[in-house]
Amino acid sequence: MMGQVYLNGNFLPIEQAQISVLDRGFLLGDGVYEVIPAFGGKLFRLTQHLQRLDNSLSAVRIPNPHTLTEWQEILQQLVFDQDDDISIYLQVTRGVAPKRDHAFPEKVIPTVFAMSNTIPAPDPATLEQGVSAITLDDIRWKRCDIKAITLLANVILRQEAHDHDAAEAILIRDGNAMEGAASNLFIVSADTIYTPPKGPQLLPGITRDLVLELSHRHGMVIEERNISEQSLHCAQEIWLTSSTKEILPVTQLNNNPVGHGTPGKHWQQMIRLYRDYKKGLR
Ligand code: PDD
Repeated sequence: MMGQVYLNGNFLPIEQAQISVLDRGFLLGDGVYEVIPAFGGKLFRLTQHLQRLDNSLSAVRIPNPHTLTEWQEILQQLVFDQDDDISIYLQVTRGVAPKRDHAFPEKVIPTVFAMSNTIPAPDPATLEQGVSAITLDDIRWKRCDIKAITLLANVILRQEAHDHDAAEAILIRDGNAMEGAASNLFIVSADTIYTPPKGPQLLPGITRDLVLELSHRHGMVIEERNISEQSLHCAQEIWLTSSTKEILPVTQLNNNPVGHGTPGKHWQQMIRLYRDYKKGLR
């Protein structure tokens, strides 16, 4: 199945995977997605990812086109013979409509697309030195909990970070730091780890849940609490988490060092726990 993608019931080479220009994903960004990692051919937290997909679909009123078992069968075929760390990109759009109109068409069949990509191993230098981030005004909408393919704000924000030689933009809304353009946010302050609580302002990350779980299990002190912009700037440590970036230490914020300007001791502990956990899955 290597090199094959899934489109509407078929596995085929990516060059042959084609959709109509009238697909509402293409014309209106009318769809949702997931990014699901697989380690050693095993899909990571598939049930949680599919639950989040189901939440996104029902929030935008697209019927879930598959049962859990059907999803499992489709996705497993994309990773079963791959030993590397893989991420599956999975997208469901409302489907192809007879004409472009904002309101939902009648009797439309969702378009389902999935492909796998290798997750590059984290660059050792990056992990040694950490990454830079900048703060930007969160210009996104009010339903950031939906994993919508409509990512224009995130795209612009991440590019602005790149233009400033930063790996990520940390987004500020109403005086609080919410998350990155494509990652969740953690800080360490007075030896306590903080992450903003789930809600419509941020994506409920699966990696975020794992970090919370590992902290609880190993006696690290963690609280779900709003992070003010000021406490972000005073933080001992800042971390960003996502399925493809794992746990990244931020050591420069707006060109100022975070803590001592090197990855902190709490991050060192957490990344060890994360790696051990990942090894245990294989
Ligand atoms: N993005 N917040 C946002 C806005 C995200 O886009 C992502 C992930 C996360 C982290 O979620 P998780 O731990 O479940 O990957 C948080 C994916 C990787 C992407 O868009 O490519």
